[in-house]
Amino acid sequence: MKVFIVSFVILTVALATEFDVSGSISCDSKKKWCYTVELLESDYLDNDYMNHSTKCVEPGTESYQESYHINGTQKDDGLWDYYFEIFVDFSHNCTGIQESFYHEVAIVPITEKYVT
Ligand SMILES: *[C@@H]1O[C@H](CO)[C@@H](O)[C@H](O)[C@H]1NC(C)=O
Ligand SMILES: *[C@@H]1O[C@H](CO)[C@@H](O)[C@H](O)[C@H]1NC(C)=O
Ligand SMILES: *[C@@H]1O[C@H](CO)[C@@H](O)[C@H](O)[C@H]1NC(C)=O
Repeated sequence: MKVFIVSFVILTVALATEFDVSGSISCDSKKKWCYTVELLESDYLDNDYMNHSTKCVEPGTESYQESYHINGTQKDDGLWDYYFEIFVDFSHNCTGIQESFYHEVAIVPITEKYVT
């Protein structure tokens, strides 16, 4: 049986415009599989791409837990509303076909000051 699970996501926000997301995903696959994680900020106009990370997992990996770490910076383009909506977009071929899904990480009010 093949499963694909995002087990946890942690968002760290520094200076209100820097985002750092880490977590782990798992896939019970006997074959090599690859995944791409994209960090996005969504507003009502469109999705702003921040950064992405691609990794492949070789067969025979002991742990099915793959941890990822991605960060990015959001530029001030003056179009923001009052919130950042942070998404990660996973694309993987764990199940043998290319699949993708969104995962909302957090909605961050811009007016709040985050300090790490
Ligand atoms: C992103 O993460 C890398 C590796 O951990 C680090 O070197 C870099 O400074 C980080 N960038 C930002 C914008 O946080
Ligand atoms: C994208 O991620 C890499 C690796 O973590 C990091 O070094 C780089 O600074 C990031 N790029 C941006 C635009 O934040
Ligand atoms: C996933 O994609 C990689 C790179 O294209 C390929 O080597 C691998 O065999 C694929 N895995 C599966 C399960 O389809």
